Amino acid sequence: MLSTGSQLRLLRLLSCVALVLLFQVTNSKKDLKSTCSTCRQITDNFNKGFERTAKQNFGGGNTAWEERTLSKYETSEIRLMEIVEELCDSSSFDCNHMVEEHEDHFETWWFKRKTKHPDLHKWFCIETIKVCCPKGTFGPDCNACLGGSERPCHGNGNCDGDGTRGGNGKCSCDNAYRGEFCLDCIDGYFNEVRNDTFSLCTACDTSCKTCTGATNQDCDECKEGWEDDDQEACVDVNECAKDPSPCEEDQYCLNTDGSYSCKGCDKTCSGCTGAGPDKCQACASGYQDAEGTCTDIDECSQPEPVCTREHEECVNNKGSYLCICSSGYEEQDGECVQKLEPEKEEESETSETTTSTHGEEL
Ligand SMILES: *[C@@H]1O[C@H](CO)[C@@H](O)[C@H](O)[C@H]1NC(C)=O
Repeated sequence: MLSTGSQLRLLRLLSCVALVLLFQVTNSKKDLKSTCSTCRQITDNFNKGFERTAKQNFGGGNTAWEERTLSKYETSEIRLMEIVEELCDSSSFDCNHMVEEHEDHFETWWFKRKTKHPDLHKWFCIETIKVCCPKGTFGPDCNACLGGSERPCHGNGNCDGDGTRGGNGKCSCDNAYRGEFCLDCIDGYFNEVRNDTFSLCTACDTSCKTCTGATNQDCDECKEGWEDDDQEACVDVNECAKDPSPCEEDQYCLNTDGSYSCKGCDKTCSGCTGAGPDKCQACASGYQDAEGTCTDIDECSQPEPVCTREHEECVNNKGSYLCICSSGYEEQDGECVQKLEPEKEEESETSETTTSTHGEEL
């Protein structure tokens, strides 16, 4: 018992160590991008705080004396402190750490740089602590994204690490676009406009796999389920007209644009051309045609009786019938025999009856 316990404890310790290591590896990988986003969050909150405190003053309002002797609230250290206090959620370690580390920079900017460099994000995150890059650039040296920093990925995708000191500058293209520069169209789209720096991909007609224009006559290749007609346009294939039918015997075929589906026939049918008991090719056993609709045969009211044993009754159901022993009788060795008295019933162990009381005892 003891050794198993300590083994368990060791195992738990090891998995903790592994988790911490894993956390650090994944953390350092996304570091450069997330550090920039922390910085952006701080400068965004700074701007919000600046607006929030715009209508405030030194509590009681700037008196004439205050205006002469102290600096005005507008440019005061007190206002700066009020803004800086609200830059981070108390729970955000990264944010609070960054603000603490660079508190001096906020003061420098507030008193000496604000007029010349009004964009705090640019001055602080990009130029001073260098954790972000200008829009359209990425990586340690802020190189231009693929497609250029003006319109990264030619406006059709996202550049990895855009605006941060991380990433590789490669494009992940928006839907409909592909290629290193997001100028090519994926299958099912065509270049409506295209030059070396600009591309607009538009959807093909639904019948085309690939195309050069928007109609079903502009297909290069038809999509599966569509075929060329006489006029070189892609038209729907009617799979249901094929011989043999693509569906099972107890199903009917429903053609759809570009495809088809197989649906189960009504249970009154043996083969059918559509849904419902009036679309049967033939009636299933136990059903008969009545003015074009397959309806249940009442076997019990036929002139020739179907339940012929003594003391049994006929019960009709949909598509068939049952022969059951009349009340007071029960099935025994293929015959309906009078039920035994309840006391005696419990003793008859060889009986094949399946009454519920007996069944439970078994
Ligand atoms: C490419 O096309 C766009 C949009 O039509 C146009 O604004 C741009 O000037 C074109 N560039 C060149 C090099 O032709």
